[in-house]
Amino acid sequence: LVIVLDFGGQYSQLIARRIRECSVFCEMLPYNTPLSEIQAKKPKGIIFSGGPSSVCQEGAPVVDPAIYDLNIPVLGICYGMQLMASQLGGKVNKAVRREYGKTELQIAPRKGLLSCMGQRAQCWMSHGDLVEAPPPGFEVLASTETLPVAAMAAPERSLYAVQFHPEVVHTPKGQDVLRYFLFDICGCVGNWTMGSFIEQTVAEVREKVGGRRVLCALSGGVDSSVAAVLVHRAIGDQLTCVFVNHGLLRKGEAESVQEIFRDRFNMNLVYVDASERFLNKLQGVTDPERKRKIIGEEFIRVFEEEAGKLGEIDFLVQGTLYPDVVESGTATAAVIKSHHNVGGLPEDMRLSLIEPLRWLFKDEVRKVGEELGMPDRIVWRQPFPGPGLAVRILGEVTRDKIAILQEADAIVTEEIARAGLDREIWQYFAVLPNLYSVGVMGDERTYAHTVAVRAIYSHDGMTADWAKIPYPVLERISSRIVNEVKEINRVVYDITSKPPATIEWE
Ligand code: XMP
Repeated sequence: LVIVLDFGGQYSQLIARRIRECSVFCEMLPYNTPLSEIQAKKPKGIIFSGGPSSVCQEGAPVVDPAIYDLNIPVLGICYGMQLMASQLGGKVNKAVRREYGKTELQIAPRKGLLSCMGQRAQCWMSHGDLVEAPPPGFEVLASTETLPVAAMAAPERSLYAVQFHPEVVHTPKGQDVLRYFLFDICGCVGNWTMGSFIEQTVAEVREKVGGRRVLCALSGGVDSSVAAVLVHRAIGDQLTCVFVNHGLLRKGEAESVQEIFRDRFNMNLVYVDASERFLNKLQGVTDPERKRKIIGEEFIRVFEEEAGKLGEIDFLVQGTLYPDVVESGTATAAVIKSHHNVGGLPEDMRLSLIEPLRWLFKDEVRKVGEELGMPDRIVWRQPFPGPGLAVRILGEVTRDKIAILQEADAIVTEEIARAGLDREIWQYFAVLPNLYSVGVMGDERTYAHTVAVRAIYSHDGMTADWAKIPYPVLERISSRIVNEVKEINRVVYDITSKPPATIEWE
C-alpha cells in the first residue's frame, strides 16, 4: 500500500491512478489525516500531491513534520516539494512569474530517482512558488532555466521531491520516475491486479455477510452490474437482485438484463415489469421536473414493495466508486439515507451497505467486469439516466412515442458501434422532440415526427463537446431511421456542447 496525501491538487487522483497502473494498491487521504492513522495502515511509501496553496501564506496546509522521521519513503510533488522544503529548513519563495507548461529539465548525473530521465528531459510544470535552496542534507537532482531546484533528495532519509508533475503524460518519463520510487525506493512488489482484487473482495464480502441476506437494486448500468456479479460470486443465492422495468428502457434492454443476470450468471433476479404503473402516473404530464419526480418516487415505491416481499434482509449492495468516496470525503455511512441510482430509499429500511467497488476507478471497474466474464454490452455500456427515455421524449410520454424512440435509438446505437465509435463517444442516443414536420415520400406528402441525434464526448458528464461524427455515418443513421421507422420523416443532429446545453434534452 502507498498513501497519497491530497493537498487539493488538480492531478491528485491521477497520481493515484498512475500508482495503480504499476499494480501497486494506493489510497488517497486528506492531508490532515492524523499520523497515527497513516502509520496504522503500514504504507510502504507516502506521496504528497500538488495543491493550489502557497507555503508562503499563513494557514497553508501542512503535515505533522514527524512524518519525515517514520522511516517511510516520502515523495513530494509540486506543492508537496515546497512543503517538504519549507518544513525541513529549505528556502521557498514566490516565483517572479508563474510557470505553467512544458519545460526542459537538466538532470544532475546521479544514480537514483531521476536516472531514467537521462541528462535532459521534458517535464510538465504548474506552480507559483519555487524552492530556492534545498533543506540541509538534501542534494539537488535537477534544475531548469528558471528553477535552481527542480528536484531534490535526501536518500539516506528516503525523502524525495520533484517540482514537476511526473503523473501527467506531458512528462514522458514520469511513469518511470514513479516506478523507481515505488519499486526501488519503497520496495513495492506490484502484485495488485484485478484478479487479486476480486479474490480479496470475495473473501471480505463472505466474511462480512456470513449467512445473512443481501439485496441489490440492479439498474443494468456498469457499476451496479459489476458490484452485483462480484457479490454474487462471494455469496451466491444469498444475494437477490431487483430490477425494475419502468417501461422507459431502450430497445431490448429488459430482455438483455434478464438474459445476462438470470440465465448466464444464474443469479436470483426479481424482474418487475412496472411499465403500466409508471405510464399511468405519467399520463398528461409534460413538465420535465415533474416527470423526473414522479418516476423517482414511483421507483422507490415499487422497489420497497418488492423488497418487502423478500423477508429479512440485512445488507444492500451499492456501486459506489472511489471518486465518489474521495469527493464526499466521508467514511461509508452504516445506514443508507439515499441511493444515487435509486434516488432515496425509505429510512426505515435499515440496511448496512456493501460497496465492493469503493476502491476502484471507473476503468478498473470495467476491468473487473471483464475479468468476471461480463459481456461488453454491460462493461462498456454508455451512461443512461435513471428516468430513462422519459427525459428524451419532450412533452407527454406515451407508449407510441416510446416505441418510436426505441426504434430510432437502436439504429443510432448500431451505426455508432458499426463505425467503431462506441468507445470514444461518451453518449450517443436519439431524442424525440415532439415536433412534426412536412416531408415527401414516394409521391406522398407526409406529416410526421422529427428525431434528433445527440452524441457527445465527455470525461465525466459535467462538461461535454458534441461529437464530430463523420458525415457518412450520420448519413447512414439518417437514411436508416427515415426508412425503417415510418413515423419519422426528418432527422436532425444536435451540435450544442455542454455548457450551454445539457447532455439530455430534459
Ligand atoms: P445532463 O443532461 O445534466 O446529464 O447534462 C449529465 C449526465 O447525467 C445523466 N443524467 C442522469 N443520470 N439520473 C441519472 O442517473 C438522472 O436523472 C439523470 N439525468 C441526466 C446524463 O445521461 C448524462 O450522462
